[in-house]
Formats: sequence, C-alpha cells, structure tokens
Amino acid sequence: MKEWTREERYRTLKDPQELWDMHEEVRTSDYRQQFHIQSITGLINDPNGFVRHNESWHLFYQWCPWGAVHGLKYWYHVVSKDLVNWKNLGICLMPDREYDNKGVYSGSAMPIGEDLYLYYTGNHRDEDWTRHAYTCLARLKKDGWLEKYPLPLFGENKNYTEHQRDPKITYIKELDTYYIMIGAQTKKHYGCALVYSSKDLLHGWNFVGELKVPGFEKFGDMWECPCIERIGEQDVLIFCPQHLLLPGRGQSDNHNGYILGTMDWENLTFTPDGSFHVLDFGFDSYAAACANNVNRDNHAVLIAWMGLPDVTYPTDEENWSGCLTLPRELSVRDRRLIQRPISGLKELREKEIELSDYQSGTVIDLPRVCEMELYFRPGDVSLQLFADKNGNGGLSITYSELLKEIMIDRGGMKTTFNEAHGLTRTRTLPNGLKHLRIFIDRSSVEIFVNDGDAVFTSRIFPADGEAFTKVTGDVYVRMWPLKAACEDLLIV
Ligand code: FRU
Repeated sequence: MKEWTREERYRTLKDPQELWDMHEEVRTSDYRQQFHIQSITGLINDPNGFVRHNESWHLFYQWCPWGAVHGLKYWYHVVSKDLVNWKNLGICLMPDREYDNKGVYSGSAMPIGEDLYLYYTGNHRDEDWTRHAYTCLARLKKDGWLEKYPLPLFGENKNYTEHQRDPKITYIKELDTYYIMIGAQTKKHYGCALVYSSKDLLHGWNFVGELKVPGFEKFGDMWECPCIERIGEQDVLIFCPQHLLLPGRGQSDNHNGYILGTMDWENLTFTPDGSFHVLDFGFDSYAAACANNVNRDNHAVLIAWMGLPDVTYPTDEENWSGCLTLPRELSVRDRRLIQRPISGLKELREKEIELSDYQSGTVIDLPRVCEMELYFRPGDVSLQLFADKNGNGGLSITYSELLKEIMIDRGGMKTTFNEAHGLTRTRTLPNGLKHLRIFIDRSSVEIFVNDGDAVFTSRIFPADGEAFTKVTGDVYVRMWPLKAACEDLLIV
C-alpha cells in the first residue's frame, strides 16, 4: 500500500495533462462503473451541492485527483437532465484562497434566479497545521463563470472544536429565513449541529444556536453532513455520527442514519419520534445528501457516497476509489424512511433476458451490468450473486421465514476487504420478503427490499469466474442488462 507524504496529498493540480496517464489507467479498470457517478481519477467522497436548477440536476463531488487518498479536495461538477444520464463538466471549486488552502470541503447549493449559490467549508491550515474551518460562498453563473466571495461568510465558532463543516443551506418559508446547518463537535467531544440564520443569502449570517435533539446529546463524537428534510408531514434529521459502534455493524464506526421527528426552527429543537435508524443496511454508504429546490411537494431525492471514511478498497492500487450511489426518492411509511431508485432508471434496461421458466436452484449467467427483479412467495430464500459456475461462493442473500430476517454475506467473495467491519449485514422484515430489486454495476450492488423498505448498498470486486447466479425458493425472476449512463471522459 502506497504511503503518501503530505506534499503528495496536498499537491495542487496545475495542468490537466498531469492527469492524462492516470485517467488512461483508471478508465480501463475492470471495476470501472457504468451507471454510477465516479471520479475521473483519484478519490471521490461526499456528494455536494445537489440541486435542481434550470431544468437540470447539478451535482458536485468531493474529489482528490491524485489517488485513493483524502488529500487536497476540489468540487467536481456533473450534470443530468434525468438523474440517470450524467455528464462531466469539470472542476468547479478549487482550493485557491487562503481560507480554503487545504481543501474545498463539503456543502450545498441554492439557486437564485439564473445563478447557483454554493456554500462550502473552506478547510484552512496554518503553517503549524492547525485547522480552521470557514463557511464560504461562491456564485456559479449560468454561463459557467464562477465567482468566489472575497471573504468567508463566517469563521469557526470558538466554543466548539476545530471540527465544524458541511453547510447545508435551507429556506424556511413560514419564517422567511435562510438557515445554514453545519456538523460540529463540542469541547467535550460529542457530535452536534450548529445553526446560523440570515434573511439574505449573501450577508448578515448569525449564529443562532446548537440544534437541540433531546436524547441524542451524547451520540458519536462528531456529526458530519447533518441536514433536515421535510417529507410529507414528517421532518427527518439525516446525519453521520462518527466513532460510535452499532450492533450488527462490526468494528465499523462511521455511520449514516436518520431520526424521524418534528423540527421547530424558532426554538432550534428537533423532537425525535423514534430512534436512530441506519439509512442503508449495506457495507458502503456515507455522507448522504438531499437535493435542494426539488420543487415538488412531499418529495425528496437523496444520493450518497458509496464508500466510508478510514477504509481501503481493492482499486486503491489502481489510483482510484469510490463512486456515488444511485439517486433515490424518499418517502415515509410505517415510521421508516422508504428509499426507491428513481423511476427513470428503467430507461437503461436493454432487452429482457428470458427467464420466465426459471427453476429454483438453476445456475445462470450474471451480466456485469444488470438489474434483477425477484418476486417471492412465502418461504426461505437463498440467492447467490457472483457465484462460480457451480453456483457456489460469491455474495449471498438469504431470507429466513422463521426469523423474518434477511442477511447479506460478502464473505464468500474471492476478494474480501474491510473484514473488520464484519462480513454480514441483517435486517428484520416483519411483513416477510416479497420483492427484491437489485442493481449490479461492475463493482457495486444495490439491493432494494420490498419496494424501498430497506436498502443494502455495497462495493464488491468480482474475480475471474465469479460470473453466475442461482436463486433457491419460490421465486419469479426477471433480469435486464443495463446501458451505460455515466460518461468516463477526462474533462478537467
Ligand atoms: C465526510 C467529510 C466531510 C468533509 C469532507 C471532506 O466524508 O469528512 O465532513 O467536509 O468529507 O472531504
């Protein structure tokens, strides 16, 4: 594993030519995704500035060009008309000011007229490497012209530690006020969210207080990427509490989850209605972000980083790492967040593979890029994905009717990684298993259970021969190869 010096990690990109060879190598990787957003080279992490604007969906991602390392971060810009097909537009925000000299960190976007306002964390480090976080603003004009505001909107709050970042901008109509929520850490090392408000997007931002979330005062030591969304009559606080172990999640200590409840912006109190739930039951999902300006009532769209902090992946050696999840539509049912893949994904289906007479237990080919739908009658189920030609090994999905529990196990894959996080993940299904919708890209699998009741998102790295699948149970199987939807062009 390569050891990165600080100079290497924080090297600034001077000329796009510097990336040419690396992109050639990355582009030909067997694990390169076809319909997921992934970095042109290097490392992708959080989705940023997700917003609907001027008839398009804009999205930016945290990007470190040099390899699978969290070094100097940029915002890379991608755009889509339909949330399915994405085009690369190139770097949007670079760390080129004193206040963001060591990284343009995560944030969000708000459209005003023809312009997009981008709110982000300027990660500044002094010469002695002391960190200071600034909340900064840039304006992206329709013609692509970018203007950073000369000074940050506000600096760090001295009553908290240096960990203050990830501004999420929200407009609350009833109070005619804009709010920025940022993730932070108290001096006693507990995670929290800080709230700032203003009547104006550009000026007059004031600290209004720490978000009160009764019962969650000591929950993780830092909250990354907090946001509050309104879905129907329900508010939901989505955040990433760090350095906390949760049952059934091995030694993984970075989680992305949510609490349903009611938000009172005047009193800065989020009153939970229930407990903390994991957003995604798979192995690799973090830093979820909801789009701003979705502009349809009771509607929210979420996308997340298909990766985790502090872990390594097999493609690290190929100088790239990570991708984003598929965008998902959110709703609330039975006091749970429901996530459905956005409907436009059906457009990617090629001619259906004829499986109407599929017999339980038969081994069939598994395309590297495909979608499966499985309809079950009550009973135990076992599904091997990426199995060998005899139907053994690979990623197994099992459902026990007795326990009413679904389990995925990636321990049977030839290439294992991050084993300390555990090899299995489970979720109870009180109403049984009825339906699975599975999206397979070359190095990822997203399993939507019972129409969005639970999602398991994971990276997988199939080796030679792991190219078959087998289902056992009372099942009807459908399968489609999928078209590519995310272009892999080196646009800088
Ligand atoms: C979450 C995070 C954010 C930060 C960004 C830096 O993954 O650590 O809190 O802004 O990544 O890349």
